[in-house]
Amino acid sequence: MPNDLTGQAIAITGASSGIGEATALACARAGASVALAARRADRIEALAARIEDEGGRAVALPTDVADERQARVFIEHAYEKLGRLDGLINNAGVMLLGPVEGADTDEWRRMVDVNVLGLLYCTHAAIPVMKRNEDPAGGHIVNVSSVAGRHASFGAAVYNFTKWGVCGFSEGLRQEVLHSGIRVTIIEPGFVETELLDHNTNPMVQAGAKHRKEEIGKVLEADDIANAIVYALAQPPHVSINEVLVRPTGQRT
Ligand SMILES: NC(=O)c1ccc[n+]([C@@H]2O[C@H](COP(=O)([O-])OP(=O)(O)OC[C@H]3O[C@@H](n4cnc5c(N)ncnc54)[C@H](OP(=O)(O)O)[C@@H]3O)[C@@H](O)[C@H]2O)c1
Repeated sequence: MPNDLTGQAIAITGASSGIGEATALACARAGASVALAARRADRIEALAARIEDEGGRAVALPTDVADERQARVFIEHAYEKLGRLDGLINNAGVMLLGPVEGADTDEWRRMVDVNVLGLLYCTHAAIPVMKRNEDPAGGHIVNVSSVAGRHASFGAAVYNFTKWGVCGFSEGLRQEVLHSGIRVTIIEPGFVETELLDHNTNPMVQAGAKHRKEEIGKVLEADDIANAIVYALAQPPHVSINEVLVRPTGQRT
C-alpha cells in the first residue's frame, strides 16, 4: 500500500492547528500512532479523541516547546506511551512579521524560541530515543521550514532568519545521523491557509497577506503539506527525501 505508516510511532509538535493538526490526522489514517504536542491542551485532547474514535492511536501531551525541560519530557513521554519513536515532526512555529526598525523585540524572541530553539530541543531529546529502536532501527526527523527559508522578503527578515536556520541545521544534522539510519527531511511550504498570520498585530501585515493571497489565487490547504510529510515518512529505509518545497501553483516567490 502506498504511504503506509503502519507500526510507526510519530511525535508531532504544533498539532493543535493548521499543518500540525492535518499531519497528525494524516499520519494516524496512514496507520501510525501519534503523540501530539502544543500549548492548547483542549485542542490536542480533542484531536486525540477524534483519532481514537476513528480507530487510531493518539496521545495528547500539552507542551511548550520553547521550554527545554518540557520539550524533553514530551519526547520521553511520547516514547513511553507509544513504545518506540520512529518519527519527530518539528512543526511548531510562529510568524510575526514587520520591518526590523521599530520592531517589538519580544516578537523576535518568540520566533527564535519556538522556530529555532524549540526544534533544537526536541531534536536533541529525540536522537538518543530513536537510537533505542530495534526491528526496525532508525528514525526520521521532519523539520518544517518554509519557502521563507529560501527566499527572503521585506518585512520577514527575522522569520527568514529562523527558517534559514532550520534549513542549515537540518542539512548538518542529516550528515551526522545518517549512519544511525536516522533520516532528516526539510519541508518548505508556500502560502498555506492556517492560523499562522492571525497572531500578527500590525494591520499592514494582514493587508499585505490579503493582497498576496489575491495574487496567488488558490492557496494551499494544510492537508496538501500533510500529504507531502506522509510521503516522505513512508519511503523505504534506504530512501531519504531530503527537501520538499511545495508552493501553490500561483505563487511566484
Ligand atoms: N501557513 C503557512 O503559510 C506556512 C508556510 C510556511 C511554513 N509554515 C510553517 O508551518 C508550521 C505550522 O504553522 P501553521 O501554518 O500550521 O500555523 P498555525 O495554525 O498557527 O500552527 C502553529 C502551531 O504551532 C504551535 N505552537 C506555537 N508556539 C508553540 C510553543 N511554544 N510550543 C508548542 N507549540 C507551539 C501552535 O500551538 P499552540 O498555540 O496551541 O501552542 C500551533 O499548533 C510553522 O512552523 C510555520 O512556520 C507555515
